[in-house]
Amino acid sequence: MEWFSALRESDPNVFKAIADETWRQHEKLELIASENFVDQAVLEALGQPMQNKYAEGYPKKRYYGGCEFVDEVEKFARIRAKKLFGADHANVQPHSGAQANSAAYAAFMNPGDTLMGMELSHGGHLTHGHPLNSSGKLYKIVAYGVDPETERLNYDMVRKVAQDNKPKVIMVGASAYPRFIDFKAMREIADEVGALLFVDMAHIAGLVAGGVHPSPVPYADVVTTTVHKTLRGPRSGMILCREEHAKAIDMAVFPGHQGGPHMHVIAAKAVCFGQALKDEFKAYARQVVKNAQELADELSGQGLRLVSGGTDNHLILADVKGSFGLTGKDAEERLDSVGITLNKNTIPFDQEKPFIASGIRLGTPALTTRGFREPEFRRVAALIIKALKNEMTDSLRDEINSEVKDLTSSLPLYPELNAILGGGSESAGG
Ligand SMILES: Cc1ncc(COP(=O)(O)O)c(C=O)c1O
Repeated sequence: MEWFSALRESDPNVFKAIADETWRQHEKLELIASENFVDQAVLEALGQPMQNKYAEGYPKKRYYGGCEFVDEVEKFARIRAKKLFGADHANVQPHSGAQANSAAYAAFMNPGDTLMGMELSHGGHLTHGHPLNSSGKLYKIVAYGVDPETERLNYDMVRKVAQDNKPKVIMVGASAYPRFIDFKAMREIADEVGALLFVDMAHIAGLVAGGVHPSPVPYADVVTTTVHKTLRGPRSGMILCREEHAKAIDMAVFPGHQGGPHMHVIAAKAVCFGQALKDEFKAYARQVVKNAQELADELSGQGLRLVSGGTDNHLILADVKGSFGLTGKDAEERLDSVGITLNKNTIPFDQEKPFIASGIRLGTPALTTRGFREPEFRRVAALIIKALKNEMTDSLRDEINSEVKDLTSSLPLYPELNAILGGGSESAGG
C-alpha cells in the first residue's frame, strides 16, 4: 500500500491540508529559527503502530503489559541521548520543551520559590517565568537581561541580580539570543548564591550535539531541550541531568506531569539521536553556523542593524524598525507575501508590544537541511533586503516570488512525498 493512500480515501479534507502543507514547506524559504525539516526515517518512525501503545512508567518498570518492544526504543533513545551529549542520565519522555521545563522546575522547587530566568523581551522564553505561563504563576520570578550597550549577556549584571535575589534555580537559555552563552560563568554565579543551574538548550541542542556550540552539560545540574529545532528530530522534549538528580527528574516527569509516554515519538527521537551521532550531522551543524554568519554579514552590509552586531549560532535578530522604519509585524507580513517565512520578534528594550515588535528573527537550520550553502544564503539576503527596503508593488512582489521559486525548486524538499501527495498540482487532495 502506498503512503497516504488510506488517508486520501478516508478523509480527503485532512489529506488535502497535509498535501498543501508539504508543498508549502517545499515552496517557501523557511527561516523560522526554531523549525527544521526531519528526514523520512524520522517521519516513518512517527507514523507507525507504537502510537497505539500505553507504557506508563519506564523501561522494565511499566504499569502495562506488552511493553517489550517499546522498551527497546526507549532504551535506544536514552543510550544515544546520553552518548550524544555526554550526560549521566536522560529522560526522553517529555512531550515538549514546555513540559520538560515544568517537570524540571517541579522536581526541585515548591510554589513560591524563586526562579531566575532571562527576560522574555531580551530573548528568554515564555516558560522561564512569563506571568501567563505556569512558571510565572507558580514561582517568584526574577529576570536578568542583556547589557544595553552590547546587547549581550553581561555576567556581572547577571551576578548582581542573583546576589540580590538568591534564587533557588537559575534558568539559562533563550529563544532569541544570537550569541554564545558562557555556561561556566553561569555555574560560578549559581555556586556563589547556592542556586541550582538549569540550562534550556532547546534552540542550540543541534549545535551542541554537532560540536559547534559550547556544551552546558558539564556545568548544569539539569539540561532541558526540545528535539525538533536544530537537533532535527520529532516535535518533543527531553531532560538530561546528573546522576544524583535522575530519580527526582524521572518522578517529576512521570507521574508528576505526564501520563503515558508517546512511544512512537520516542522511537523517532531514537532515530534522530542516531542520526545526530554521525559525522554528517557535525558537518550539518557547522554549515548551519556558517550560513547564519554569511546571512548576517550580507544583511548588515546592506543596512539591516543586527542585535549584538551579528551571530555565533543559528539565528539572527534584526532591528527592522531602526533600520528601515518598518515594524516587525509589517516586515513579517511583507516577507510572507513574497514566500519568505520568518517571525516578528521583540528586540532588547523594545518600545513596541510583542505582537507588533521592532525586530525579526531569522534562522538557518531548515534551509541548511535542504542543502542551502553560502551562495544561496547570499541570494536569500538580497531578496530580504529588496523586500524590506523598497515599496512593495505588485511587480516587485512577482519578481521576488519568482526568485524564491527559482531557489526552492533548485533544492527540492520531500520530492518523493510531494510526488505521492500531488503537492503543487491542482489535483492535490483529489
Ligand atoms: C528555549 C525554549 N524552551 C522551550 C520551548 C518550548 O518548546 P515546545 O514548543 O516544544 O513546548 C521553546 C520553544 O520555542 C524554546 O525556544
